[in-house]
Amino acid sequence: MSLSHIDLTDPDNFLEGTPHEWFTELRNQDPVHWHEGSTGAAFWCVTKWQDLRDVSRDPKLFSSQQKGINMPNPRMEEAMRRRAEEAGTSGPMAAMAEQATEGGGGGFPIMLMMDPPRHVKFRRLVQRSFTPRYVAGLEPHIRDLAKTIVDDVVGKGECEFVTEVASELPLQVICEMMGVPEEDRHDIFEISNRMIGFDDPELGEDQEDRAMASMGMFAKAMKVAELYRDDPQENLTSFLLHREADGGKLSEIEYSAFFLLLCVAGNETTRTVTTNGMRLLIDHPDQLQRLVDDPSLIPSAVEEILRFEPAVHHFRRTAMQDTEIRGRKIKEGDPVLIWYPAANRDEEVFEDPDRFDVSRHPNEHLSFGIGEHFCLGANLARLELNAIFDEIIPRLRSPELAGPTRRLRSNFINGVKEMPVRFEPGERTNG
Ligand code: HEM
Repeated sequence: MSLSHIDLTDPDNFLEGTPHEWFTELRNQDPVHWHEGSTGAAFWCVTKWQDLRDVSRDPKLFSSQQKGINMPNPRMEEAMRRRAEEAGTSGPMAAMAEQATEGGGGGFPIMLMMDPPRHVKFRRLVQRSFTPRYVAGLEPHIRDLAKTIVDDVVGKGECEFVTEVASELPLQVICEMMGVPEEDRHDIFEISNRMIGFDDPELGEDQEDRAMASMGMFAKAMKVAELYRDDPQENLTSFLLHREADGGKLSEIEYSAFFLLLCVAGNETTRTVTTNGMRLLIDHPDQLQRLVDDPSLIPSAVEEILRFEPAVHHFRRTAMQDTEIRGRKIKEGDPVLIWYPAANRDEEVFEDPDRFDVSRHPNEHLSFGIGEHFCLGANLARLELNAIFDEIIPRLRSPELAGPTRRLRSNFINGVKEMPVRFEPGERTNG
């Protein structure tokens, strides 16, 4: 059967939800599929669990640096090429433009888009703040924040779940870790929304707005740097400013790019998983009841939410030489996209993969990636998700949708912009 009806390049096709049926077709009929989409972008789609692992674990063969980690986008590349000409040859704007004209990667110093050995040197700068031990030290505070967030809505019996519940915890936690003052946190939230909403007309006019949003984050990074340049503290911004990565301190643009990565990655993903998790529990009341009856299942429910609706749809790699995956001949320079929702429902690995089961075990989902770029924030994200669901499950009782859910128009992030939720009103616990 032909797979020509599938178009993963058009973000409209993700508006009603992740197109899981398409991923099932791809996995079963052509697991390493050459895809030509309506935007003019063409790339390999890797949809099997084992292949996603193999590609992610071989950064020499499948580079994140060569052309970046986003889906090729001929229209954006053309728009940014024009912008590069206007911007001249120096400064952050030119670097942004160069990034885009190179297809999203070349030369732009963001760790997610670096290959080893450079990647390792950058990652080491902040790694210690994300170890299980370090993160465990944050637990009492994170649990307290989660309690307050639920306290603030529980009496009302209704809330806009995305902004009032899901966004708050990751935003506050990453901003505290970065040393971002309270008055700047709302801006960080707005800017990172625009950065991931680059395909959503409500959040940006067109692809060029993403670059403008990055510039806003760079300005914020410089403002926060002023606080710690002469007065370093125990926070990530101070580490970025004062530790040495690749033979010296970070340049201004390296520092700003790192700041941007930590703010965006620490914000959007965990919020998305929290929102999708709430939705899954509303849609599967039997599974929700199991958690109410036995909260010790919450950690495995969090893993199942991560598996069932991963926050990130795909990342891209670029083949560095001719090679083969499952017998398909990949040419040097070809874009290779790894699709997390597809790998997470691989029937060779997961029993009854389309069933949402809060006690699923084992559950080796790949939602945090694997290998060289394995999510730096995975321990932190797991703690935040457990903390918030530990508050939500017993306290926001009988939840249901209270209005239409509005999804983010994106084939990159599985996001939700708005989700009104109603529940039985309850009591505050933090006074
Ligand atoms: C549920 C929440 C999260 C999900 C689903 C998630 C997912 C991912 C994935 C799939 C990657 C791999 C990218 C690749 O292979 O190219 C990644 C990398 C990364 N994540 Fe997360 N993430 C989450 C939360 C966080 C948090 C809270 C932070 C905190 C700062 C964070 C920081 C990062 C960073 C810095 C990288 C790049 C690592 C590197 O290049 O070495 N993430 N994340």
